[in-house]
Amino acid sequence: MKITKAVIPAAGLGTRVLPATKSMPKEMYPIVDKPAIQYIVEEAVNSGITDILIITNRGKNIIEDYFDRSPELEGRLLEDKKEEFYNQVVSVSKLANIFFLRQKETKGLGHAVNCARSFISGEPFAVLYGDDVIIGEDPACGQLIRAYEKYGKAVVGIKEVAKENIHKYSSLKVEHLDGTYYSCTDMVEKPKTEADVLSYFSILGRCVLTPDIFDLLDKTTPGVGGEIQLTDAMRVLAQTVGMIGVDFTGKRYDIGNKLGILEATVELALKHPELKDDFRAYIKNLASEL
Ligand code: UTP
Repeated sequence: MKITKAVIPAAGLGTRVLPATKSMPKEMYPIVDKPAIQYIVEEAVNSGITDILIITNRGKNIIEDYFDRSPELEGRLLEDKKEEFYNQVVSVSKLANIFFLRQKETKGLGHAVNCARSFISGEPFAVLYGDDVIIGEDPACGQLIRAYEKYGKAVVGIKEVAKENIHKYSSLKVEHLDGTYYSCTDMVEKPKTEADVLSYFSILGRCVLTPDIFDLLDKTTPGVGGEIQLTDAMRVLAQTVGMIGVDFTGKRYDIGNKLGILEATVELALKHPELKDDFRAYIKNLASEL
């Protein structure tokens, strides 16, 4: 079955970027001139996704406003003959069929994904974490969808993380299959001790799930941090039917932490057609003073 639906969980509290996230969702941080979540929606669309459910919460209305039409602004841009801006503004609202649902309590990523059950209605689907921007020629979500089409199993986007950081991530039991593909038969969220570490491969930001995940999430009790962990439900899939890991190409930026936001901003500004020359000169000059 062709994958056309995606879920973007964006209802987290963003405590690692407080105080800004008190009233500004991290998913809306501008990375140069687009909010982080737009890069994610574009990646989904470039991967063949047509219908996207964004999971929000009561503090995140500006995400809905952003993907809506904006008649007053559009009218003014047309009047002022600013067609380029007009086209940019209108195209945001036409990227995909975007739906919104509120996660009424912040009970974790697994709980947020479980809110999407009726939207998904029995199909395999992609999940793109709302605070992971991945930039690359070949959209990461599309790489995972191709793996699903090849193996017919749920897929996780994986990367090796530094040994000293594995306790902040999940740790996967993997075996190399072919190219960027791995089989994944077990996983543990935020391993506490060295003995709990299955490998330094971790799930980063993307997965393709089969609808059986919802029954597993229903049975999942709160895990690390008192939250319903998506990894806990995925572990059952991995241990029973097995999952596929894709060591995706592309650079991932964690918009959920301050350094990640800065890295994304600097690196994307260095590629931005309008800014790259001036910004490169500025960065070189600044670096020479450090
Ligand atoms: P994170 O754990 O990175 O986000 O969840 P967080 O909870 O906002 O982070 P901190 O630790 O407080 O800084 C990964 C993704 O899952 C979403 C987040 O918005 C993020 O995109 N999420 C997390 C939800 O949608 N609901 C939740 O209850 C938790």
